[in-house]
Amino acid sequence: MLYTPTPDTLYHPPPSHIDPLGYSRLALITGCSSGIGLATTQLFLAHQFTVVGLDIAPFDYNLLRVEDHGRFHFHRGDLTQPGEIDEGVRIASHFGGRIDVLVNVAGVLDNFASADGVTDSDWDRVLATNLTVPVKMMRAVIPFLKQRPDGGVIVNVASTAGKSGAVAGVAYTASKHGLIGATKNVAWRFRNEGIRANAVLPGAVDSSIGNRIAENTRGGGGGVDWEGYKAITTRPVHALQAKAIEVAPITPLEVAKAILFLVSDQARTINGVELPVDRAWGVV
Ligand SMILES: NC(=O)c1ccc[n+]([C@@H]2O[C@H](COP(=O)([O-])OP(=O)(O)OC[C@H]3O[C@@H](n4cnc5c(N)ncnc54)[C@H](O)[C@@H]3O)[C@@H](O)[C@H]2O)c1
Repeated sequence: MLYTPTPDTLYHPPPSHIDPLGYSRLALITGCSSGIGLATTQLFLAHQFTVVGLDIAPFDYNLLRVEDHGRFHFHRGDLTQPGEIDEGVRIASHFGGRIDVLVNVAGVLDNFASADGVTDSDWDRVLATNLTVPVKMMRAVIPFLKQRPDGGVIVNVASTAGKSGAVAGVAYTASKHGLIGATKNVAWRFRNEGIRANAVLPGAVDSSIGNRIAENTRGGGGGVDWEGYKAITTRPVHALQAKAIEVAPITPLEVAKAILFLVSDQARTINGVELPVDRAWGVV
């Protein structure tokens, strides 16, 4: 089996691993209800951040340690809908009185359709969620980050598909390439205003997004563009990664740890990078 059926679990960090990195700092995290966004929320809370999480799906508070509940606020909404981003940012700035960190995690997969078959609705849905939302989130949050004397940080979750044309359909590939471009533009433009913006590029991660591919693949349907899917999965690039993650799957927590590093002071000279979190898949 490529993916585990229940990737989202409660995280208990070993006490020796916790530092007060986030003490009195607020992080706004999109896509917090599952996978990488949930793991990032759990990890940031363990490091004493105040976290406001945004997601279209409901949030299960049982997945948070009870001692973290007071520093967490969840707002449910579809970030592609008019007004939702401004509402989420308004709630975050009220909850914490400041915003120090933005982590854009929310994203959707495409159905592997190629340029000759992608539908208008799939193109619009994937580009809106994976590219337009993170850019508009940055637009809304940058004024708050500029106010932080010790600097503000943005981390965008892109993908191996943000560098390679051989791992997903045309819409997902274009959206993640675009997100990396937007990240680098923000890093350069605001480098002298105390804002850092970096991207992480996960390989195949053991999250619900992966389960959805696996289910679609097994079920022989679900809207997957099979011609596009086969063209991608039979290529050596994908086969190599599939083998690697069967042996040692990349967990959402491992991606969250890379995000935490980029937010930390240890990364304070790192700005505008595309950081693979993929067990070397990206070098193929
Ligand atoms: N899982 C992987 O293999 C993988 C690999 C590379 C990159 N990524 C990226 O990582 C990010 C997180 O994915 P994941 O694997 O944790 O999947 P996931 O499906 O577990 O999490 C994505 C979250 O985004 C939320 N979301 C989707 N559309 C939204 C919207 N319009 N408004 C608000 N919230 C919305 C979902 O409800 C979900 O909670 C995505 O951007 C994805 O493209 C994932």
